[in-house]
Amino acid sequence: MLPVISIITLMIISNCFGPENNTNDNMETISLPEPSLEGDISLEKTLKDRRSVRSYSDKTISAGIISQLAWAAQGISDRVNNFRTAPSAGATYPIELYFVVSDGHEPGEGVYRYDPGDHALDRVHSQDMRRDIYQMSLQQEPIIDAPVVLVITGVLERTAQRYGERAERFMYMEAGHVSQNIYLQSTALELGTVAIGAFDDEGIMELMELEDGEYPLYIMPVGHY
Ligand SMILES: Cc1cc2nc3c(=O)[nH]c(=O)nc-3n(C[C@H](O)[C@H](O)[C@H](O)COP(=O)(O)O)c2cc1C
Repeated sequence: MLPVISIITLMIISNCFGPENNTNDNMETISLPEPSLEGDISLEKTLKDRRSVRSYSDKTISAGIISQLAWAAQGISDRVNNFRTAPSAGATYPIELYFVVSDGHEPGEGVYRYDPGDHALDRVHSQDMRRDIYQMSLQQEPIIDAPVVLVITGVLERTAQRYGERAERFMYMEAGHVSQNIYLQSTALELGTVAIGAFDDEGIMELMELEDGEYPLYIMPVGHY
């Protein structure tokens, strides 16, 4: 099925971001506030209330919200073993998570890749790419309506090194786990999101300049109701 399924069926709480030392001249690293481990809503109520939401308000997305979504999706929940909030076959962790942020929302316009080890964001592009992503996703309105768009990708080789051909299905399964965590965290924070699977894989790969062997798996716009 890989490298590309061309077009599938054609059809967060505070202001604590802080720039840190750059690892290279082009990449700014932004530390995220610590995620909260407490919430106001039970898991059972969260499950009951989870729905796909496709329109959003302009209310500001804060550093705390970004932190919480990143942690729910791929955060390290066991520092001894480096295990994460979402399960992974053999703890090979093929999934990467990007935040496409529009102007006026934290940490500022651009595209950021989440670094689970440091619970930080690496800025990989300076511009808001939502309009292009929208064009490559059958012009699905939630992508331009949402202040922040999450893109879930997978680096197949990480898992294939151990599991060979089985890795492809594992990678897709893992994207599902990550997506569900984002849905549930969003619901608990009274944010809306929807898992979008219909997009032009190659177009997104080129636009976001993904590395060879890194595939876009899901797009999740997020915003306040
Ligand atoms: C694999 C997958 C792909 C999906 N792709 C899209 C999509 O491209 N656009 C969209 O609006 N919703 C998409 N959805 C969301 C479904 O339409 C939604 O989950 C379904 O209507 C059930 O509604 P609920 O999520 O509120 O329970 C997708 C869901 C899944 C699981």
